[in-house]
Amino acid sequence: MCGIVGYTGANPVKPRLIEGLKRLEYRGYDSAGVAMQQDGGLTLVHRVGKVAELEEALSSFDDSSTCGIGHTRWATHGAPSEANAHPHSSCQGDIAIVHNGIIENFAELREELLSRGHVFTSQTDTEVVAHLIEEAYDGREGDACKGDLMKALRHAVGRIVGAYGIAAVCAQEPGRIVVTRKDSPIVLAYGEEGAYVASDIIAVIEASRDVAVLEDGQFADMTPEGISYFDAAGNAIEPPIMHVDWDIDVAEKGGYPDFMLKEIHEQPRVVRDTLAGRLSGGSLVIDELGLSLEELNLIDRVYVIACGTSYHAGLIAKHLIEMWARIPTEVEVASEFRYRNPIVTPSTLVVAVSQSGETADTLAAIRDARIKGAKVFGITNVVGSPVARESDGVIYTKANKEIAVASTKSFLGQVVSLTLLAMLLAQSKGKLTLGQIRLLYSELADTAEQIEEILSDTTAVEEAARACKDAASALFIGRGVGSAICYEGALKLKEISYLHAEAYAAGEMKHGPIALLDEGFPVIVVATQSPVYDKVISNIQESKARGAMVVAIATEGDQEIAKHADHVIYIPKVRDAFSPITASVPLQLFAREIAVLRGCDVDQPRNLAKSVTVE
Ligand code: G6P
Repeated sequence: MCGIVGYTGANPVKPRLIEGLKRLEYRGYDSAGVAMQQDGGLTLVHRVGKVAELEEALSSFDDSSTCGIGHTRWATHGAPSEANAHPHSSCQGDIAIVHNGIIENFAELREELLSRGHVFTSQTDTEVVAHLIEEAYDGREGDACKGDLMKALRHAVGRIVGAYGIAAVCAQEPGRIVVTRKDSPIVLAYGEEGAYVASDIIAVIEASRDVAVLEDGQFADMTPEGISYFDAAGNAIEPPIMHVDWDIDVAEKGGYPDFMLKEIHEQPRVVRDTLAGRLSGGSLVIDELGLSLEELNLIDRVYVIACGTSYHAGLIAKHLIEMWARIPTEVEVASEFRYRNPIVTPSTLVVAVSQSGETADTLAAIRDARIKGAKVFGITNVVGSPVARESDGVIYTKANKEIAVASTKSFLGQVVSLTLLAMLLAQSKGKLTLGQIRLLYSELADTAEQIEEILSDTTAVEEAARACKDAASALFIGRGVGSAICYEGALKLKEISYLHAEAYAAGEMKHGPIALLDEGFPVIVVATQSPVYDKVISNIQESKARGAMVVAIATEGDQEIAKHADHVIYIPKVRDAFSPITASVPLQLFAREIAVLRGCDVDQPRNLAKSVTVE
């Protein structure tokens, strides 16, 4: 949710921190700050708002500092303000830290530190860590940690409970940054210019494509000369180095006005990459799942658990798994699953879907399911993420880094991956023949080209968006798998345009939402060819009869629908099971277009964060 960046080397730190923070800004963006070693002390600068505000504030500072840390924040404890922005410093101002995560016992620690005379300047949970380090560094906890920033950090994290990625600097230790983590990602890289730390690879890959991923309980000691790593017991370790093969251009808009549009246009590639190599010798292969077809055959219940957009991918998966594999499947938001006592047995498969691979509720649900004996498959976009590491098997969605907060290409990668999983389960149960699998696979692969076709002419989407942009509210309706597409379409619209949107299974419309309809009320209908097409047409007629303005997503060649809807967005014909892959694309474009017309920040909508690492 927040972003950490740090650099120590021979070159000015200021531009490196700003550049890193800009790359991390998609994770959280209500305030930002830096701490730079300068003239024997620390210079701290904080600003509320985007990193650009901080950059402006820093323009009057010279480039003499070559070591520092920075942070971009999404507020949890304490409102967005300069006082609550990181880095936070100790009473003396000679120690500063940045922190991602949450310190669960901060209230007790704060009381304790206050009673010992510490003065707090923020309402954050983080500030206690700076004061704990200070006490240890000063020798108030004995000589063991005195004057050694790494030892003082070890002492401090020994006192805290919660999740953290922490980087700390100290005025008395020029050029040194110490780092640790638990349940919050930290990566490090050493390049020609010096040592880098960040909470996300995207902030360090320009320095080096070879990055070390810090594990829980490990520590890193950074100086301009190199990075040393230690385990929880303090023994020197050599972490494995991960080579990042995606291109830095994922962090650039590449000629598009915003990341969201760029990422929507990357979707044909995501489909192709997610499918590549999955059909071998005529049958489906997903080796990373680590279960044989015989073991998969024993599964008698599936839970798909996820949050947000990923949950909607789960709704689609339910349709496919039940249709093809005939396994009862429930889809549940992770924050509910973890707190009720779901029926989980060793023959239950839990599929955890998470773009970021670090969503706190999804991770907690995974842990809970494994304790109960379920097999857990992760579907994630981030290699080596906590969801990937804590699952028994994983399918990577191959979307590559997604920067826009509103998920598009990751969602599509999830849907394609879940479609493959549904087919695999059906294969293992003998419910689909290899011939059927091959046919489905080939049609699934064709969706890449069909998305390209949709993206090649967006005139109808733009017209519909212009017609709806001033509405106060919109209703999305569909049936069967079409209703799942609607949930995602409505979420996209409200996330980025702040236009209130609701999705309903179309058959439910007459049980409540129809009361909302009046002249010009936008009703967006997924009306692609399906066994329930005629029923959907009836729902369109019901809407029209109340004066609604109907925007229909329909199958090319369907002339009938134009008689009923005010706006028709045609998409290529696909089988109903694959309609989520194609029909989602015009809905993404529709949401984005309305957001642009309403003057909203498409990539960084208010109050949202790309990944939510707190409960
Ligand atoms: C946040 C994001 C959503 C995302 C959800 C789940 O709320 O803004 O776009 O769908 O988290 O994230 P995950 O990384 O677990 O898919």
